[in-house]
Amino acid sequence: MIQHREPGNPQSSARDTSVVLRVSKISKQFPGVRALDGVSLTLRRGEVLAVIGENGAGKSTLMKILAGIEQPDSGTIAIDEHPVVIDSVQSALAHGIALIHQELNLCDNLDIAANIFLGREQHTGGWMNRRDMLREAERFLRMVGLNVPPDTLVARLSIGQQQMVEIARALSVDARILIMDEPTSSLSQQETETLFEVVKGLRRQGVSVIYISHRLGEVRELADRVTVLRDGRNAGELQRDEIDHDRMVRLMVGRDISQFYVRQSHTPGDPMLELEELVVPRNPRHKIRLQIRAGEIVGLAGLVGAGRSELLQCIFGIEPPLSGTIRVGGRVARIRHPLDAIRHGLALAPEDRKTAGVILEMTVQENITLPGLRAYCHPGGIRNLARERHDTETLIRRLRIKTPSPHQIVQLLSGGNQQKVVLAKWLALTPRVLLLDEPTRGIDVGAKREIYQLMENLAASGVAILFASSEMEEVLGMSDRVLVMHEGRIAGELPREKLSEENIMRLATGGSLLATESVGR
Ligand SMILES: Nc1ncnc2c1ncn2[C@@H]1O[C@H](COP(=O)(O)OP(=O)(O)OP(=O)(O)O)[C@@H](O)[C@H]1O
Ligand SMILES: [Mg+2]
Repeated sequence: MIQHREPGNPQSSARDTSVVLRVSKISKQFPGVRALDGVSLTLRRGEVLAVIGENGAGKSTLMKILAGIEQPDSGTIAIDEHPVVIDSVQSALAHGIALIHQELNLCDNLDIAANIFLGREQHTGGWMNRRDMLREAERFLRMVGLNVPPDTLVARLSIGQQQMVEIARALSVDARILIMDEPTSSLSQQETETLFEVVKGLRRQGVSVIYISHRLGEVRELADRVTVLRDGRNAGELQRDEIDHDRMVRLMVGRDISQFYVRQSHTPGDPMLELEELVVPRNPRHKIRLQIRAGEIVGLAGLVGAGRSELLQCIFGIEPPLSGTIRVGGRVARIRHPLDAIRHGLALAPEDRKTAGVILEMTVQENITLPGLRAYCHPGGIRNLARERHDTETLIRRLRIKTPSPHQIVQLLSGGNQQKVVLAKWLALTPRVLLLDEPTRGIDVGAKREIYQLMENLAASGVAILFASSEMEEVLGMSDRVLVMHEGRIAGELPREKLSEENIMRLATGGSLLATESVGR
């Protein structure tokens, strides 16, 4: 029986904090990569343990081992101090361990309820009937604050909503140990707050949570303890009162990172990207007008579903505009297809790397050089392989892409390293206009700093950058100007002097600015 004491002060209660999970000296080798090298950790009852580390540090691999998806080469796992072998997902579930994957893992062609109960449709008393399933699913959807009928096809949901379904599914198995591998990387602020409430509620009920995130603010808010991995090894541990940003960074990357945001003020040049009365197919009721000058970095803020990705995809020709004009470098650009966009000097690093960002079955080098393949050809069409290799290696180094070689298959990289390949691929093009959709999602702090520096260098060399981001800090830190979208239109524009979280949120939620006129339309 769990005693409910004052929340937020767990020490005051005499509750059971015994060790529920003890991982000792786990190692795991992949071809060419030692992913884990003698890693240990403990997890107590009713505790939120954050596991942090750079991209490729081994976090997901360790969690897959705990969830029965991968087998360790050596090391032991004990539950309630009894040694166990977790050799399948079923055996992990039987031990009360559930994993919310870093990558979405739902069946697009099934509805929400079917996804939540996938593989568990058979109850003790026979098959679960559809009505019960829908009712139960609805209960879990309510817990995660997802207000969508349970018979909605998953394919119709946004990425954030799909993530909430994953979380609902994990809740529905009644785990004692719940592992969340970057659960918030595609959630809106609102969804993130709901998730935090869910996690805190679980903790009060005595559930133990392993929480992986690159967002150190979240870790600070949620974690009772932090374990840090570096290059597949334990790099240190922080107790509740030691958890601060600098300590976490130092343990993760082995050095301090000073001056995180590197945006310098430039005098913007001529208009590089201009949209006039652009009608985006997904939001045909509005006309979009905007202008970005050479050397400017413009943030595109808004809540999930505000139409940011749709706008970027429209500009890039993935879903060409219904009407209106796009000008690039002052000249009208007819963009009906991404190839047109590339020809006019545009590049888009999309939000969802799995569907649009990279070709998972191809190598790192093939992905990076693909969009600019024509530029890598000698006259006569023979490929300049030496240059391809050189450019790839430069980007691997700059973005600190952790890969055994340029010829590794992208699918085998860690999530954050795949994201870096998406960026590298478009940066290799040296575009005139760079469109970025959530550029640093899932990327560790060290590499984030590198990406900001690259954006800054590109801007300084005259590239116009439009980037959509849900990370408030990044929008505030990197933008010369912010356009805020609300329900498919640009609800307002904030110059640098008016940039604040409050102003962005006001516009993003359909309000207007206090005391001043909202600029833009
Ligand atoms: N199936 C595999 N085959 C080969 N290498 C792999 C495989 N799975 C993971 N790796 C490698 O193991 C290392 C650890 O990967 P892991 O996914 O655990 O990192 P991570 O800490 O979760 O990183 P991220 O923050 O980017 O998600 C990486 O170098 C990765 O490329
Ligand atoms: Mg991972």
